[in-house]
Amino acid sequence: MCGIVGYIGKKDSLPVLLEGLRRLEYRGYDSAGVALLENGVIRVVKTQGKIKNLDALLAKEKKTCSNIGIAHTRWATHGAPTKLNAHPHSDCRNNFSVVHNGIIENFSSLKNELIKEGHKFISETDTEVAAHLVEKYYKGNLKEAFLKAVNKLEGSFAIVLMSSKYPDRLLFARLGSPLIAGVGKGENFLASDVPAILSHTNKVIYVKDCQAGEIRKDKISLFNLKGKTQPLKVEKILWDLESAQKSGYPHFMLKEIHEQPSVLKHLAAAGIKFDKKLTGALKNARQVSIVACGTAYHAGMVGKYVIEEMARVPVSVDVSSEFRYRSPIIDSRSVLIAISQSGETADTLAAVREAKNKGAKIVSICNVVGSSLTRESDFVFYTHAGPEIGVASTKAYTAQLMVLYLFGLNLARIKKSLPVATISKYNKILRNIHTHARLILKNCSRRICDVAGRHHNFGSFLFLGRNLNYPSALEGALKLKEISYIPAEGYAAGEMKHGPIALIDEYRAVVCIAPESKIYEKMISNIQEIEARKGKIVIIATQGNNDIKKYSKEVIFIPKIAELFSPILAALPLQLFAYYIAAKRGCDIDQPRNLAKSVTVE
Ligand code: G6P
Repeated sequence: MCGIVGYIGKKDSLPVLLEGLRRLEYRGYDSAGVALLENGVIRVVKTQGKIKNLDALLAKEKKTCSNIGIAHTRWATHGAPTKLNAHPHSDCRNNFSVVHNGIIENFSSLKNELIKEGHKFISETDTEVAAHLVEKYYKGNLKEAFLKAVNKLEGSFAIVLMSSKYPDRLLFARLGSPLIAGVGKGENFLASDVPAILSHTNKVIYVKDCQAGEIRKDKISLFNLKGKTQPLKVEKILWDLESAQKSGYPHFMLKEIHEQPSVLKHLAAAGIKFDKKLTGALKNARQVSIVACGTAYHAGMVGKYVIEEMARVPVSVDVSSEFRYRSPIIDSRSVLIAISQSGETADTLAAVREAKNKGAKIVSICNVVGSSLTRESDFVFYTHAGPEIGVASTKAYTAQLMVLYLFGLNLARIKKSLPVATISKYNKILRNIHTHARLILKNCSRRICDVAGRHHNFGSFLFLGRNLNYPSALEGALKLKEISYIPAEGYAAGEMKHGPIALIDEYRAVVCIAPESKIYEKMISNIQEIEARKGKIVIIATQGNNDIKKYSKEVIFIPKIAELFSPILAALPLQLFAYYIAAKRGCDIDQPRNLAKSVTVE
């Protein structure tokens, strides 16, 4: 995790760095700091907490001007989120200052060696070793010392270095964690992600893995870790900063929930296409494996139901962090679908590399163009949901679902597992689903807000669903616990009798996802079992099913749709329910405690 910004140019660097940090705060926000080079001396200012604490601290300091600086917002891995552990970190003489994202796995042995050689450490972080290593290797050539240091580091990280001896350059390297260089006129930038620099330039260079480089105010160079020059590829960002702003909504999460109809509309209209190679790989595949984390994993679970139902191909779904350690049966006939909003989730990348080593073809479903996952995949389907800033994933989830449905339909066409008429009927449903999503947001938001108002003080929640909406229940529970901190559990409704039923009494709120389906009656039996034990029931049901009101006053209706597609619609009220409960509890919705948007550590 963590966010890095670097600037060199003609402007006063501090406002540029702070603006960049604010736009990267979604990556981590437990401490923050800047290092500015002023008249040959590096001045470091850092503090615990969010960027606003750093702003306040800097406001109290003497105003100076520096045209070069580095900055960092942290999500702690090694060492508590204290001021001392905040980045930037320096060597013994404050000649070299570094910011870093990711983990240096061998820092402990390096640190012991450096301490024996007389280096003095002041933090508990892994990062500090990088500054001391550069100090150790510096013999008058910064690039050489930096590369020697980087080559000593093991793990997955991105790092930026500033030196008091070189006011004209910043050095950087990427081994696993994302890093971009922004191309300006008479100024250049470094950042972990595009929004940090988008108000200054829309031209970026995606630094590749095992690539290092240097920015000066009028030049950017890239080289490999041995120092050999590499070509630059400048890409243009097509979205603007406006799409990374709140547009009048109180939170990014609410804005992103409301963007779903438009995302679904465009995805379904564009459809997806399999090229010859992917068609061949899929024809050859005995099964499809899916790996993902968090919300993307729940999308993968729905994907299993959908692809198996449509294409009659066996699908396995794993949490990425489990997949690689369970000796999965993968070979050159396997197809692995990796789902990730960010494309930088370390566990998912590790699972992909494991499968790739065993010969599998990698298909990724990803939201971030140019991310690590997309570069390591054989085939990429973008979710085109636009930047998702709220830590709790919403629009990326329904976009992932849409791509999985389109994938299932394409596969069904290849496998001839569905009649052509059914495929076109399903395509039509997908192309129309955005209108239902829009209706839910328009007609149900108020109602959901009221229901949330009557439930925000419950101490715990159970979410129940069956079949395709079992993953919906897991996702509903995840959304609620992520942003409201209320313990919430998702369960397959049929499993309730094997344990969770013991928890039901008048203090337990139970959200039942019960749209029209072939197992609707079974869901009703579960609802009756909860009612008999005085559980407080909230039901998500199909519009027009007035009968269901006899089980609870708290019913949220979603439009009628074929069961197979109901998870897309069920997601919206569950997201809004979690949102309004968290809002009523006064929680920090876009930046919930202990979480980060992009988890680049295993
Ligand atoms: C973090 C986020 C979740 C997200 C998960 C996977 O835990 O807080 O919202 O679902 O990572 O992220 P990815 O970018 O791989 O979808």
